Amino acid sequence: MTERHLSAEVRARAAELLELYPHPRSALIPICHLAQEQDGWLRPEAIAEIAELVGLAPAEVLGTASFYDMLHTEPVGRYLVSVCTNIACLLRGAYELLEHAEEHLDVRAGGTTADGVFTLEEAECLADCGRAPVCQVNHRFFGDLTAQSFDTLVDSLRAGRHDADVPPHGTLIRVRRQGGLRVDGDTVAGERAAMAAAIAQRAGSGGAASS
Ligand code: FES
Repeated sequence: MTERHLSAEVRARAAELLELYPHPRSALIPICHLAQEQDGWLRPEAIAEIAELVGLAPAEVLGTASFYDMLHTEPVGRYLVSVCTNIACLLRGAYELLEHAEEHLDVRAGGTTADGVFTLEEAECLADCGRAPVCQVNHRFFGDLTAQSFDTLVDSLRAGRHDADVPPHGTLIRVRRQGGLRVDGDTVAGERAAMAAAIAQRAGSGGAASS
Protein backbone atom coordinates (compact mmCIF):
# COMPACT_ATOMS: atom_id res chain seq x y z
CA MET A 1 0.00 0.00 0.00
CA THR A 2 1.53 3.33 -1.04
CA GLU A 3 -1.30 5.80 -0.31
CA ARG A 4 -1.58 6.30 3.44
CA HIS A 5 -4.91 7.26 4.89
CA LEU A 6 -4.01 7.22 8.57
CA SER A 7 -2.04 10.24 9.71
CA ALA A 8 1.61 9.97 10.72
CA GLU A 9 0.55 10.53 14.35
CA VAL A 10 -2.02 7.75 14.27
CA ARG A 11 0.46 5.39 12.64
CA ALA A 12 3.07 6.23 15.27
CA ARG A 13 0.59 5.55 18.07
CA ALA A 14 -0.51 2.34 16.36
CA ALA A 15 3.13 1.23 16.25
CA GLU A 16 3.39 1.83 20.01
CA LEU A 17 0.25 -0.23 20.59
CA LEU A 18 1.55 -3.07 18.44
CA GLU A 19 4.60 -3.24 20.67
CA LEU A 20 2.42 -4.00 23.68
CA TYR A 21 0.95 -7.25 22.43
CA PRO A 22 2.49 -10.63 21.66
CA HIS A 23 0.34 -10.87 18.52
CA PRO A 24 -0.29 -7.84 16.26
CA ARG A 25 -3.96 -8.76 15.83
CA SER A 26 -4.46 -8.23 19.58
CA ALA A 27 -4.03 -4.49 18.95
CA LEU A 28 -6.92 -4.44 16.49
CA ILE A 29 -9.60 -2.82 18.67
CA PRO A 30 -7.42 0.00 20.09
CA ILE A 31 -6.09 0.78 16.60
CA CYS A 32 -9.67 0.90 15.30
CA HIS A 33 -10.41 3.48 18.00
CA LEU A 34 -7.41 5.53 16.86
CA ALA A 35 -8.68 5.51 13.27
CA GLN A 36 -12.17 6.40 14.44
CA GLU A 37 -10.75 9.30 16.39
CA GLN A 38 -9.17 10.59 13.19
CA ASP A 39 -12.24 10.29 10.94
CA GLY A 40 -15.22 9.92 13.30
CA TRP A 41 -15.91 6.49 11.80
CA LEU A 42 -13.99 3.63 10.23
CA ARG A 43 -13.58 4.48 6.57
CA PRO A 44 -12.87 1.62 4.14
CA GLU A 45 -9.40 3.00 3.44
CA ALA A 46 -8.67 3.07 7.19
CA ILE A 47 -9.90 -0.51 7.53
CA ALA A 48 -7.58 -1.60 4.71
CA GLU A 49 -4.63 0.11 6.39
CA ILE A 50 -5.44 -1.33 9.81
CA ALA A 51 -5.66 -4.78 8.25
CA GLU A 52 -2.17 -4.32 6.88
CA LEU A 53 -0.86 -3.15 10.27
CA VAL A 54 -2.25 -6.10 12.24
CA GLY A 55 -1.81 -8.78 9.59
CA LEU A 56 -5.48 -9.52 8.92
CA ALA A 57 -7.71 -9.31 5.86
CA PRO A 58 -9.83 -6.12 5.57
CA ALA A 59 -12.94 -8.33 5.80
CA GLU A 60 -11.74 -9.62 9.18
CA VAL A 61 -11.24 -6.07 10.46
CA LEU A 62 -14.67 -5.08 9.17
CA GLY A 63 -16.24 -8.21 10.69
CA THR A 64 -14.73 -7.41 14.10
CA ALA A 65 -15.50 -3.69 13.99
CA SER A 66 -19.11 -4.21 12.94
CA PHE A 67 -19.64 -6.42 16.02
CA TYR A 68 -18.94 -3.62 18.50
CA ASP A 69 -21.41 -0.79 19.17
CA MET A 70 -18.66 1.71 19.88
CA LEU A 71 -17.09 1.26 16.46
CA HIS A 72 -18.87 2.66 13.41
CA THR A 73 -18.43 1.38 9.90
CA GLU A 74 -20.86 3.95 8.47
CA PRO A 75 -20.52 7.75 8.73
CA VAL A 76 -21.93 9.34 11.88
CA GLY A 77 -22.54 12.98 12.71
CA ARG A 78 -20.22 15.15 14.74
CA TYR A 79 -22.38 14.20 17.72
CA LEU A 80 -23.65 10.67 18.26
CA VAL A 81 -26.68 10.95 20.56
CA SER A 82 -27.48 7.59 22.15
CA VAL A 83 -30.78 7.50 24.06
CA CYS A 84 -31.09 4.61 26.49
CA THR A 85 -34.44 2.82 26.38
CA ASN A 86 -33.62 0.01 28.80
CA ILE A 87 -35.78 -0.71 31.83
CA ALA A 88 -34.89 2.09 34.27
CA CYS A 89 -34.93 4.72 31.54
CA LEU A 90 -38.05 3.20 29.96
CA LEU A 91 -39.90 3.55 33.28
CA ARG A 92 -38.81 7.18 33.45
CA GLY A 93 -40.06 8.13 29.98
CA ALA A 94 -37.23 7.08 27.65
CA TYR A 95 -39.48 6.26 24.71
CA GLU A 96 -41.25 9.60 25.01
CA LEU A 97 -37.83 11.24 25.16
CA LEU A 98 -36.63 9.34 22.09
CA GLU A 99 -39.79 10.30 20.21
CA HIS A 100 -39.24 13.90 21.21
CA ALA A 101 -35.58 13.70 20.10
CA GLU A 102 -36.69 12.37 16.71
CA GLU A 103 -39.09 15.28 16.32
CA HIS A 104 -36.69 17.92 17.59
CA LEU A 105 -33.78 16.74 15.43
CA ASP A 106 -36.07 15.83 12.53
CA VAL A 107 -34.46 12.43 12.11
CA ARG A 108 -35.50 8.89 12.97
CA ALA A 109 -33.39 6.84 15.42
CA GLY A 110 -30.54 5.33 13.42
CA GLY A 111 -30.32 8.34 11.12
CA THR A 112 -28.20 11.48 10.79
CA THR A 113 -29.52 15.02 10.48
CA ALA A 114 -29.36 16.62 7.04
CA ASP A 115 -26.57 18.95 8.18
CA GLY A 116 -24.50 15.98 9.37
CA VAL A 117 -24.24 17.32 12.92
CA PHE A 118 -26.28 14.76 14.87
CA THR A 119 -26.73 11.01 14.61
CA LEU A 120 -29.51 9.70 16.83
CA GLU A 121 -29.64 6.12 18.05
CA GLU A 122 -31.50 4.00 20.59
CA ALA A 123 -29.16 2.37 23.11
CA GLU A 124 -29.22 -0.43 25.64
CA CYS A 125 -28.47 0.30 29.32
CA LEU A 126 -25.70 2.89 29.56
CA ALA A 127 -24.95 2.00 33.19
CA ASP A 128 -26.14 5.32 34.57
CA CYS A 129 -29.58 4.07 35.66
CA GLY A 130 -29.67 6.25 38.77
CA ARG A 131 -30.04 9.31 36.55
CA ALA A 132 -32.64 7.83 34.18
CA PRO A 133 -33.60 8.77 31.58
CA VAL A 134 -30.11 9.04 30.21
CA CYS A 135 -28.41 9.73 26.91
CA GLN A 136 -24.80 9.75 25.86
CA VAL A 137 -23.32 12.25 23.47
CA ASN A 138 -20.04 10.95 22.04
CA HIS A 139 -19.88 8.67 25.10
CA ARG A 140 -20.30 11.52 27.59
CA PHE A 141 -23.27 11.15 29.95
CA PHE A 142 -26.31 13.38 30.36
CA GLY A 143 -28.96 12.27 32.87
CA ASP A 144 -32.30 13.18 34.42
CA LEU A 145 -33.37 14.38 30.99
CA THR A 146 -36.65 15.99 30.10
CA ALA A 147 -37.82 17.13 26.69
CA GLN A 148 -36.83 20.64 27.66
CA SER A 149 -33.37 19.77 28.97
CA PHE A 150 -32.77 17.65 25.87
CA ASP A 151 -33.53 20.64 23.65
CA THR A 152 -31.22 22.81 25.75
CA LEU A 153 -28.51 20.19 25.38
CA VAL A 154 -28.91 20.09 21.59
CA ASP A 155 -28.85 23.90 21.38
CA SER A 156 -25.74 24.04 23.56
CA LEU A 157 -23.99 21.42 21.43
CA ARG A 158 -24.83 23.32 18.26
CA ALA A 159 -23.53 26.54 19.79
CA GLY A 160 -20.28 24.87 20.87
CA ARG A 161 -20.95 25.39 24.56
CA HIS A 162 -20.02 21.75 25.26
CA ASP A 163 -16.79 21.77 23.29
CA ALA A 164 -14.75 21.51 26.48
CA ASP A 165 -16.51 18.37 27.75
CA VAL A 166 -17.82 16.73 24.56
CA PRO A 167 -15.08 16.17 21.96
CA PRO A 168 -15.90 15.18 18.37
CA HIS A 169 -17.15 11.64 17.88
CA GLY A 170 -14.40 9.04 18.05
CA THR A 171 -12.34 10.75 20.75
CA LEU A 172 -12.30 8.47 23.75
CA ILE A 173 -9.69 10.37 25.73
CA ARG A 174 -8.01 13.72 25.40
CA VAL A 175 -5.10 13.10 27.74
CA ARG A 176 -2.57 10.62 26.42
CA ARG A 177 -0.75 8.30 28.77
CA GLN A 178 2.91 9.22 28.70
CA GLY A 179 4.26 6.10 30.32
CA GLY A 180 3.36 3.02 32.28
CA LEU A 181 2.86 0.44 29.57
CA ARG A 182 5.89 1.12 27.44
CA VAL A 183 8.12 -1.89 26.95
CA ASP A 184 11.33 -2.29 25.02
CA GLY A 185 11.70 -4.51 21.97
CA ASP A 186 13.86 -7.11 23.78
CA THR A 187 11.20 -7.61 26.46
CA VAL A 188 8.52 -8.08 23.81
CA ALA A 189 10.71 -10.54 21.89
CA GLY A 190 11.35 -12.46 25.11
CA GLU A 191 7.64 -12.59 25.95
CA ARG A 192 6.80 -13.75 22.44
CA ALA A 193 9.40 -16.51 22.58
CA ALA A 194 8.18 -17.65 26.01
CA MET A 195 4.60 -17.74 24.79
CA ALA A 196 5.54 -19.68 21.65
CA ALA A 197 7.45 -22.19 23.80
CA ALA A 198 4.49 -22.57 26.19
CA ILE A 199 2.09 -23.12 23.29
CA ALA A 200 4.42 -25.69 21.72
CA GLN A 201 4.80 -27.47 25.06
CA ARG A 202 1.03 -27.54 25.61
CA ALA A 203 0.48 -28.87 22.10
CA GLY A 204 3.10 -31.52 22.73
CA SER A 205 1.63 -32.67 26.05
CA GLY A 206 -1.87 -32.63 24.51
CA GLY A 207 -0.65 -34.90 21.73
CA ALA A 208 0.95 -37.30 24.24
CA ALA A 209 -2.25 -37.46 26.34
CA SER A 210 -4.45 -38.32 23.39
CA SER A 211 -2.13 -41.01 21.97
S1 FES B 1 -31.53 1.59 32.01
FE1 FES B 1 -30.89 3.46 31.12
S2 FES B 1 -28.90 3.74 31.94
FE2 FES B 1 -29.50 1.83 32.72
